[in-house]
Amino acid sequence: MPPMTNRDSKTVVLGVTGASGAMFARRTLQMLEADGRVGKIHLIVSGAGLKVLREEMDLDFSRAAAIPAALAAGPAPKTEYLLDSDIGASVASGSYRVDGMVIIPCSTGCLAQVAHGISSTLIERSADVCLKEGRKLILAVRDTPFSRVHLRNMLEAQEAGAEIFPIIPSFYHRPKTLDDLVTQFCCRLLANLGLEQPQQFRWTGGRPSKGTAGTETP
Ligand SMILES: Cc1cc2nc3c(=O)[nH]c(=O)nc-3n(C[C@H](O)[C@H](O)[C@H](O)COP(=O)(O)O)c2cc1C
Repeated sequence: MPPMTNRDSKTVVLGVTGASGAMFARRTLQMLEADGRVGKIHLIVSGAGLKVLREEMDLDFSRAAAIPAALAAGPAPKTEYLLDSDIGASVASGSYRVDGMVIIPCSTGCLAQVAHGISSTLIERSADVCLKEGRKLILAVRDTPFSRVHLRNMLEAQEAGAEIFPIIPSFYHRPKTLDDLVTQFCCRLLANLGLEQPQQFRWTGGRPSKGTAGTETP
């Protein structure tokens, strides 16, 4: 998996599809907006993605222009919202400069399309462009349990150059709140995109406790 390019101001595509996990999409957008290294975010939400956002956040996404601020729960000046049906948008072409793409949450349907090079929507096409141009593509797949088809598709996508980053949060940093848990997951995700976050918890070895010191593994 190639690192993001070294240009000063990064352009990131954020795809949101119809899997559960709206709060992970929100936190990723908030962190990208707050990150001084990121100059531009292209946000694309699939039709099913909008449905899940409505379901999980109870927000009104009827006006496309209002979606970035609604999802970010605050101003989102760096974010341009692109329609998933707009297959002619900038990010559909490899000639447009993009440093990396994250799909979070990534539905198993979207995973299947990406794994098989089927680009019928802007999210799928943009992901396909990242693969063909050798750019960073992170798929934060979410479902449970995974079928054999899902597992095969993850392997296909990974072999094609995508990074499979399932929404499986960690607990060894001892999250006290849901917010903490989501934030640490998104820190790991953005670090893999080349955007390390100062608040990321770093494992430095097991806590000594009741004779089990050194046996914990992250
Ligand atoms: C409330 C809700 C939750 C869903 N959660 C998931 C999920 O966690 N994972 C998944 O793969 N699909 C999930 N789905 C189904 C997808 O939304 C559906 O397969 C859709 O066609 C995906 O389309 P997209 O990839 O264009 O977003 C969910 C659907 C709804 C309505």
